[in-house]
Amino acid sequence: MARGYSAPLMMETRTRLAFRHRHLLGIEDLDPDEITLLLDLSDDYAERSRERPAKLDMLRGRTCINLFFESSTRTRTSFELAGKRLGADVINISVAASAIKKGETLIDTAMTLNAMHADVLAVRHSSAGAVKLLSEKVNCAVINAGDGSHEHPTQALLDALTIRRRKGHLQGLLVCLCGDIAHSRVARSNIHLLQTMGARVRLIAPPTLLPPQIERLGVEVFHDMRAGLTDCDVVMMLRLQRERMQGSFVPSVREYFHFYGLDYDKLQHAKPDAVIMHPGPMNRGVEIDTAVADDIDRSLIYQQVEMGVAVRMACLDVLSRDPFESNP
Ligand code: NCD
Repeated sequence: MARGYSAPLMMETRTRLAFRHRHLLGIEDLDPDEITLLLDLSDDYAERSRERPAKLDMLRGRTCINLFFESSTRTRTSFELAGKRLGADVINISVAASAIKKGETLIDTAMTLNAMHADVLAVRHSSAGAVKLLSEKVNCAVINAGDGSHEHPTQALLDALTIRRRKGHLQGLLVCLCGDIAHSRVARSNIHLLQTMGARVRLIAPPTLLPPQIERLGVEVFHDMRAGLTDCDVVMMLRLQRERMQGSFVPSVREYFHFYGLDYDKLQHAKPDAVIMHPGPMNRGVEIDTAVADDIDRSLIYQQVEMGVAVRMACLDVLSRDPFESNP
């Protein structure tokens, strides 16, 4: 079949033509059609990643640079794998071994990489807004791989794809985000995405771990796990982000687990077919019990990791090509 008319390529073309953004900085910038198109393309890449050889050539001759100012296992590795599976040259900048340690500013580093004609920069930074600032200074596409407590758009997309593949849809589902909402960019991006796609969002956390006036986003708020989990379809647990905490937000880890750690006792209040998710890294015995995390029927934690590669392939694809390049 001619390349321009194969079914997957038609979808990719449809996606690129409909995805008019130069960067992916946050879910807040996307409408339901754009989210659906990215999820459809990611779904296609998830299937193709299971085939062998998994390598494609859409991004041959393109350069993707991962610039991570904060530590990461899943996100950085999956951006690297995604770029390589699409045939791009991928470079990882480790901040510990870069000129940033010699006092170079964020913008100078970005401008240096820009001068090397990168096509896509995936950037993680500890400050909210830093990735947007950087995107305004460079010519290439920028993907926000997490900026402070602000947004983590590819995580919300991979979470949505994981849910959609298990439940068949997002519309009308009741999704509970539990734990450290206040410091979580994952929570913020998920709230935007799930509500945009017609799901109901509940937040379950102690008052100290909720941002002020969060109800304004249209979410329901609970401080009690059993009440909050009642009838929910998806339970998404979040890590205590101690690296963003100044001072003590919970009395002790033991007490936190007692009230907010997900175990089977609390989970029985959710729907019998409710699924368990966690963006990782998990702290077993803090926000989640080991048996629940490893429940092969209900825990989707490793499916999330798999979908992470597919979503990043889709994002690199739509952002690294000229929108009219493959218009048949
Ligand atoms: C999350 C992050 O970095 O925001 N992790 C991830 O990207 N997989 C959540 C976390 O660090 O707890």
